[in-house]
Amino acid sequence: MGVDVVEVARLAAALERTPKLRERLYTGEELLVTRIESLAARFAAKEAVAKVLGAPGLPWTDAEVVNEDNGKPRLIVTGAAREAAEALGIATWHVSLSHDGGVATAVVIGETA
Ligand SMILES: CC(C)(COP(=O)(O)OP(=O)(O)OC[C@H]1O[C@@H](n2cnc3c(N)ncnc32)[C@H](O)[C@@H]1OP(=O)(O)O)[C@@H](O)C(=O)NCCC(=O)NCCS
Repeated sequence: MGVDVVEVARLAAALERTPKLRERLYTGEELLVTRIESLAARFAAKEAVAKVLGAPGLPWTDAEVVNEDNGKPRLIVTGAAREAAEALGIATWHVSLSHDGGVATAVVIGETA
């Protein structure tokens, strides 16, 4: 299990300061998200995935959050993060996001088969 909190204004400032950061942090699908609170929650989800895996240091784009038609977020883990997850026996990912009061947060669970 992993959890993370992100100060929305801090992420906004970082993205403004370093425009290339967007492509480093987010997948093409995530870059379609315009609300900064949602981008902050997605960053929190990536950190939470890293915590589930023991923070081995992986590409940020290996963890992607997409929304189902009803708005429920779904986590897709690929590349080196997927390999690390498989080594831990993780077969299914669960994610929940929230944002309010200038803070975004994510809880992630990696469920073994
Ligand atoms: C280790 C890491 C997750 C800490 O995150 P952070 O935002 O700097 O710090 P937070 O305040 O959110 O979390 C701190 C807590 O993380 C936990 N933590 C530290 N190392 C950890 C590890 N290797 N695995 C899991 N949790 C860890 C600890 O409980 C710590 O709190 P404590 O020192 O009071 O016990 C972060 O520095 C890191 O390495 N991120 C990975 C980046 C990455 O790989 N991204 C791609 C994801 S696909």
